[in-house]
Amino acid sequence: MSRKIVAGNWKMNTTLPEATDLARALRERLEQESDVETVLIPPFPWIVPVVLELEGTDIRAGVQNCYTEPSGAYTGEVSAEMFADICEYIIVGHSERRHVLGETDEFVAAKVQAVMRAGLRPILCVGETLEERDAERAYDVVASQLSSGLGGIEPQSPEEFVIAYEPVWAIGTGRSASEDDAQGMAAFIRSALGERLGPEFAKEVRIQYGGSVNAENAVSLMACPDVDGALVGGASLKPDDFAAIVRAAASASN
Ligand code: PGA
Repeated sequence: MSRKIVAGNWKMNTTLPEATDLARALRERLEQESDVETVLIPPFPWIVPVVLELEGTDIRAGVQNCYTEPSGAYTGEVSAEMFADICEYIIVGHSERRHVLGETDEFVAAKVQAVMRAGLRPILCVGETLEERDAERAYDVVASQLSSGLGGIEPQSPEEFVIAYEPVWAIGTGRSASEDDAQGMAAFIRSALGERLGPEFAKEVRIQYGGSVNAENAVSLMACPDVDGALVGGASLKPDDFAAIVRAAASASN
């Protein structure tokens, strides 16, 4: 079984002192936790100070977005290559980028390729809106986001990318998916990955659940057999809550 992965997406939150304090608080709580891979994902400008705060620990870092091109005249954009020596992970296709910033499936796919070209690992987010779920289209939507998102890559190892299933209606709403919904979709994603990459390969790909994960519901969500971790928003800004989620993932791994 692959090591579970819990990532904290800080979104557009924290000042510089708050970011370094948060990283330090998490370091104190999670330094000894080796059963779970833990990733802190601060806003762009705090990535270097946060990485410095984590030096000497096993805690990884990532960023929330990147552009598709390696360099050039793209004012305001940041390439995946720029993070190659700084962090390991880049979130791609988060629902806030798809729905608030209007990113298309094609743009998301190009970003997945860019992240892998830079030797980093994408956390590809997929998930349906409430309207799509009510219309019983959740599985179709996720299948199509997955096949287009991974369409242009030929991963050599299951460690090279992570999938985050994040139902849009569960993000920041306090209403997480039920264990049955999270497990059902994670199993579906694994079988879709199996068709594309082979079942043995798919078995080892890490599939996170994200959407209102907190210290309480993490215990049962992390125990779902096909859920290999969490992508955490709001609760990742609270050191005790995030540490409790990481511990819930660790106890589900043992
Ligand atoms: P949330 O956000 O935990 O605040 O619901 C999750 C996410 O957007 O990754």
